[in-house]
Amino acid sequence: MTPAFRPIAFVLNGRRVAVRVHPLKRLLDVLREDCRLTGTKEGCGEGECGACTVIVDGKAVNSCLVPVAQAAGTRVTTIEGLHGRHRLQAAFAELGGAQCGICTPGMILAASTLGPKPTLDEVRTGLAGNICRCTGYEGIYRAIKAANKARGARREARGEGREARGTARARTAARRRRP
Ligand code: FES
Ligand code: FES
Repeated sequence: MTPAFRPIAFVLNGRRVAVRVHPLKRLLDVLREDCRLTGTKEGCGEGECGACTVIVDGKAVNSCLVPVAQAAGTRVTTIEGLHGRHRLQAAFAELGGAQCGICTPGMILAASTLGPKPTLDEVRTGLAGNICRCTGYEGIYRAIKAANKARGARREARGEGREARGTARARTAARRRRP
């Protein structure tokens, strides 16, 4: 083993991992080769296309530009960390957001860092670093919009449920107080 290799630990998709690698090895390669998570893709390898996007401490970053030493002690999320159950994944699959496949993981991860109700302009800006050269962005924007709408509806339903439960509890308490 090369003496320059050293242990680097971080939290990957919720689990602590430690790898023994050269500190300048790209996070992209560590994820794919050492952690065996190949959902993160390489496009340009130069920070231009966004295919290698992962989330580091809540921010979308191009993992092809990050030496793994910079990830030490951080929380990293890759597409595998969404377990195929994220609302954006369902919407991308249903509404034509998943196009060439190479860019999709990065697009979904970048979209997941946007606020709860991003405007179309905010979506455009948030995904400006994720380049599509095949089909265009309409399906992608449509999927992100639908996923956020579904999330808003679920939140509203949860809020209404809480309100209804609160009213029921108040009624029960009032009945109990009656002589
Ligand atoms: S592969 Fe990292 S930005 Fe293109
Ligand atoms: S989605 Fe990959 S090039 Fe268009």
